[in-house]
Amino acid sequence: MTDRYCVFGNPINHSKSPLIHEEFAQQTQQPITYTAELAPVDGFAQAWQHFVAIGGRGANVTVPFKGDAFALCDTLSHRAKRAQAVNTLIVGGNGRTYGDTTDGVGLVRDLGYHRVPIKDKRVLVVGAGGAVRGVLEPLLVEQPRELVVVNRTADKAAQLVRDFADLGNLKGGGFDAVEGQFDLVINGTSASLSGDLPPLPDKLFTQHAWAYDMMYGAEPTVFLQWAGPRGAKLLDGLGMLVEQAAESFFLWRNVRPETAAVRSQLRQSL
Ligand code: ATR
Repeated sequence: MTDRYCVFGNPINHSKSPLIHEEFAQQTQQPITYTAELAPVDGFAQAWQHFVAIGGRGANVTVPFKGDAFALCDTLSHRAKRAQAVNTLIVGGNGRTYGDTTDGVGLVRDLGYHRVPIKDKRVLVVGAGGAVRGVLEPLLVEQPRELVVVNRTADKAAQLVRDFADLGNLKGGGFDAVEGQFDLVINGTSASLSGDLPPLPDKLFTQHAWAYDMMYGAEPTVFLQWAGPRGAKLLDGLGMLVEQAAESFFLWRNVRPETAAVRSQLRQSL
């Protein structure tokens, strides 16, 4: 029997998730369908209930519903509780809804795929919104020497430091908290959507540093365009998208798909 999955978002028509999961399903010979579903901004819970009623087994959740999904779950993973967000819903055997978030694991797996070291390195995370909250735990688990989180609104970064400091050496605040050089700088802001660049100092990178933008597009983001000439090796968030999808697929099907083929397929589709 074919099991139904989908991604909920608003807007949703440009989502790459159906392409990714169809590829995973083919590769692993899993009998599933995966569609993109537009949910009304004020009607996520109803959309999910309807999907379950017509046989849905699980879903991915993207902007703006990760908080709504978090709120409706009967059971939450440890990492979803920390992130206060859910990007993966699973219908349990008893009809209850289980929520998890795979974004942070997706980021760390993508860094691993590209052999970007984190352990004992100095890492800067720029931004303190939902996207950053979702990745801090898996990053800290990798034991960077120091993780600094900075944000335009300093209070939000300070709150993240309070919420996650038990997991490792975490500091942060406003952009004036950026001191010294970093081995890895991750842009988790949505600034590039408006063509903006967070105000970062010129001498930000160590000699073998990496710049990572959690966003991606056909062209390098404004942040990556800035980081390249300053000596960093560049990565965008396309691999993170694929890896978070692979982790969701694993949670649903207990089969781990390979990501290499779908990475290049997706890159070509941009
Ligand atoms: P997301 O779920 O993508 O994280 P969000 O919670 O709205 O979305 O967070 C957006 C992040 O991008 C925030 O860190 C935001 O900074 P503020 O907290 O100060 O708003 C950051 N951001 C958005 N536009 C920005 C810009 N033009 N310059 C700097 N930071 C920006």
